Amino acid sequence: MNEAGTQTQPYYVTTPIYYVNDRPHIGHCYTSLVADVAARFMRFLGRDTFFLTGTDEHAEKVVESAENHGVSPIEWADQNAAAFRAAFERLNLSNDDFLRTTEDRHIKNVRACVSAMMETEDIYLGDYVGWWDVSQEEYVTENVAREHDYKSPVTGRELEKRTERNYFFRLSKYEERLIAHIEANPGFIKPEARRNEVIGRIRDGLQDVPVSRKIDPDDPKSQWGIRMPGDETHRIYVWIDALLNYLSAIENEDRQRFWPADVHVVGKDILWFHAVIWPCMLMALGNELPGCVYAHSYWIREGRKMSKSLGNFLDMPTMDAYCERYSRDALRWFLMTQGPMGATDSDFSHAKFVEVSNADLANGVGNALSRVANMIQKYFDGKCPNPHGASKFEGYDWPAITKEAAEKACVKIMQMDLPGALSHAGQILRQVDAFIHTTEPFKRAKDPARMEEVAIILYQSAEAIRIASLLLWPAMPDKMEDLWHRLGCDIKPGRERLGQQLIWGALRPGTPIEKGESLFPRIDPKEEPPVPSVSQSAGA
Ligand code: MSP
Repeated sequence: MNEAGTQTQPYYVTTPIYYVNDRPHIGHCYTSLVADVAARFMRFLGRDTFFLTGTDEHAEKVVESAENHGVSPIEWADQNAAAFRAAFERLNLSNDDFLRTTEDRHIKNVRACVSAMMETEDIYLGDYVGWWDVSQEEYVTENVAREHDYKSPVTGRELEKRTERNYFFRLSKYEERLIAHIEANPGFIKPEARRNEVIGRIRDGLQDVPVSRKIDPDDPKSQWGIRMPGDETHRIYVWIDALLNYLSAIENEDRQRFWPADVHVVGKDILWFHAVIWPCMLMALGNELPGCVYAHSYWIREGRKMSKSLGNFLDMPTMDAYCERYSRDALRWFLMTQGPMGATDSDFSHAKFVEVSNADLANGVGNALSRVANMIQKYFDGKCPNPHGASKFEGYDWPAITKEAAEKACVKIMQMDLPGALSHAGQILRQVDAFIHTTEPFKRAKDPARMEEVAIILYQSAEAIRIASLLLWPAMPDKMEDLWHRLGCDIKPGRERLGQQLIWGALRPGTPIEKGESLFPRIDPKEEPPVPSVSQSAGA
């Protein structure tokens, strides 16, 4: 609800739900962070926002991994779901719900949706022979299997030939409607390069896909999962189960307004499921399609792909060590601005982390704030100076400069170009820098007759920093709230609207401005990268 008591437009953003066979790492955190920044921007814009994440627990590899650890699948799932939840809390993610696929609300919804599709014969019983990729929990086509010498294209593990009497989803029936939808909605699959890949693959033809697995009473792996409605001998394929999570979370009445989802944020590895299978399932269910499936690329580390066999995943203990030494906002900033939002992978290198933190944070927003706060301290006794209504000075039209930057940022937010949106805050800060450089308040302050000019320059600089900080807040909530506190502003995103806050002139003359310690201390490039403490590694 907004202030007038009317309902604001709903916004629903999701992340993939993560397999609980393993602990969280940078890849999972990144996808969830992207969704978090989008959700925070939207809440601040006044949208009625719902941000969902969670865990995918019915995969065979969860059973395998539980066995290896000597615990039951649900115990293993409990432990790892808790690890995901805790990791996301440490990164300050603002998800409104955390769904686990072993929860009743989800199981009930999955069975209801599958029943509905059986009734309309969108799901039917048939025979399937194919190449099963154990590590990925999916069949690969004959062509792909041959191309990879009958090994998993992802992990290299030997493929298994399987024949199954199975339930199938009539994917082929929706091929034309899906193509038409993708063509009519250019923003449905992002980024553009991924959209073209998907269209190309759909044009090769869509075949019906198996959606169940036969239960082998002697194999515990095969018993883990949701039973097919009306047929206790089959369980629902984990991907069908998982995709339905996006509906399960909003099943109750007061959340139904959130469908259709605005954005499903996913990694490129699972785009096919989200951009093809999922929309066709929704068509079969008579539901509207989501606004956008955004598939980002991958993080690699110090130039190398991250993999289990290389043992080089950037794991939580390492990420925690970064947060502890440099602040979680510095890590959030690096991930958000340098991450693989486009069609190419991004490298997490320590040297790059230092370079970006120093350039954008220490020398950027941190330096702008401390320069201005220092001068206010020195020349105005630490109180916000009074510009007596002046908002322009020597060619700088601040309301126009900040308005233009904010408007451009908002357009980019709507397009899911989050790094682009954040970059407009950087532009404001660079102008503040140039403004101080050219107007030289420190020189004018030597002449008492010019103190009015100094007041104008410093007020305008501080106010421009405040506006830039609003645009930076979704990426760096802790630090920007600290900055607001120092500038004497009481802003509560969610209660306040970004639109109102962006209006020039909110800083109150006379308010104490706190200098404080530097917001982002400069990092010595020669410093060794942080390593997890022993207790962190053990606890993760
Ligand atoms: N359980 C499925 C998703 C079901 S959604 C209905 C799954 N889970 S997963 O645990 O394997 O997580 C996959 C997601 O993690 C990827 O889609 C991507 O979002 C993220 N990443 C995993 N490794 C990654 C990188 N190296 N870099 C960036 N993100 C990556 O698939």
